[in-house]
Amino acid sequence: MKVLILGSGGREHALAWAVKRSKRVTEIVCAPGNGGIAQIARCVPVDLKDLDAMVHVADIEQPDLTIVGPELPLSLGIVDAMQRRGFRVFGPTRAAAMLENSKGFAKRFLQRHNIPTANYAVCTKADELEKAIDIFRAPIVVKADGLAAGKGVIICPSRQIALEAAHGLFSGKLLGEPQHQVILEEFLDGEEISFLCLSDGTHVAPLAPAQDHKRIGEGDTGPNTGGMGVYSTDTLLDAAMQEWIMHHIAEPTVQGMALEGTPFMGVLYIGLMMTARGPQVLEFNARFGDPETQAILLRLESDLVDALEASIDGRLDQVELRWTPGASACVVASSSGYPGSYKTGFPITGLSTAAEVPGVQIFHSGSARLGSQLMTGGGRVLAAAAAAPSLQEALARAYQAMAEIQFEGIYFRRDIGHRALKRTQ
Ligand SMILES: Nc1ncnc2c1ncn2[C@@H]1O[C@H](COP(=O)(O)OP(=O)(O)O)[C@@H](O)[C@H]1O
Ligand SMILES: [Mg+2]
Repeated sequence: MKVLILGSGGREHALAWAVKRSKRVTEIVCAPGNGGIAQIARCVPVDLKDLDAMVHVADIEQPDLTIVGPELPLSLGIVDAMQRRGFRVFGPTRAAAMLENSKGFAKRFLQRHNIPTANYAVCTKADELEKAIDIFRAPIVVKADGLAAGKGVIICPSRQIALEAAHGLFSGKLLGEPQHQVILEEFLDGEEISFLCLSDGTHVAPLAPAQDHKRIGEGDTGPNTGGMGVYSTDTLLDAAMQEWIMHHIAEPTVQGMALEGTPFMGVLYIGLMMTARGPQVLEFNARFGDPETQAILLRLESDLVDALEASIDGRLDQVELRWTPGASACVVASSSGYPGSYKTGFPITGLSTAAEVPGVQIFHSGSARLGSQLMTGGGRVLAAAAAAPSLQEALARAYQAMAEIQFEGIYFRRDIGHRALKRTQ
């Protein structure tokens, strides 16, 4: 089989790594890929904002299976466009990806199907919002409706700050693009869990649960990032809680989408807040998470390609996903200044020594090749991911690998997994 992966980050590197382990795969092409992915797949340039360009790559490469990594191509309708041309592609249609593309759509969908989520108001005008805000108590969560690369959610300590944030979203001052809809949300307190599932439109198969670390600073301080680290353990959710989430959240979501005529096939990523009144949906993503995928796929024992094909063919109920017991952890290294402005083009060293640490895989997010030298090429540069029988051991391995890696201005959090470690103490 020839597999095409669309995307250029650590998620796509992990996907390529997992696809490469499949016995059925003979060739992997990644568009556009990055310096690290180029070590295990052939990379071809493409603009992920350009639907025609992506379809053109598929026309030339004629893949047997295409996996779409990021949200942007999904929101443009890459799956619809490729399916029309007869390609087998893993990912939701544009209509199904609305669960991620519009937070207003997602909130109304959750309410229609009685799926637990924070109380909310979807507002299309500033005066409407000024009226709606009176039913909320501070802190108030203000959200942009559309894709905002992690910059569209503002937790506001007061009504006044919430109004200013909402005005900033409507006017375009905050995100550049004016928002047509702004969502007000009740603030939820608890621990966050990333609950990812495969869906074939009817059946749902949960992946190993994970916990992400979004903030740049240790102790979860400072601005939001794309994700600075993640871990996955068996104990993050017990069997009863996993079943509850499947029964009350994951399955009703997939059934609801099918009922509404927009069946969801692909990865349904459910962002959950584990509150005192039970798990509540914070948001959906319509794709693999980054860096969750790096930690999750490291624990996957069964063949990823078999599972993705079963999703495309509607026979996910016949697939059993097997997981390595224990834990995995993934520590992301970023460029100095990230998530603000940063410089790129610094040589990365120590990669081969780092990769020799047992159980460790290095996944690149933003790297480029200059001759035989790998250079930094993004805010998040790479991650050391490790699997081990315990979380402590997985973290020790990931940090041991990270200690070998150097580039100018390297930064990484030293406290990945801190919540889980506290629980076991
Ligand atoms: N209702 C809420 N209560 C408390 N925190 C929230 C709430 N909604 C979002 N957050 C916080 O903001 C983060 C980003 O929100 P999310 O809805 O996941 O948007 P996105 O990932 O698109 O930026 C969440 O991971 C969570 O930490
Ligand atoms: Mg999120």
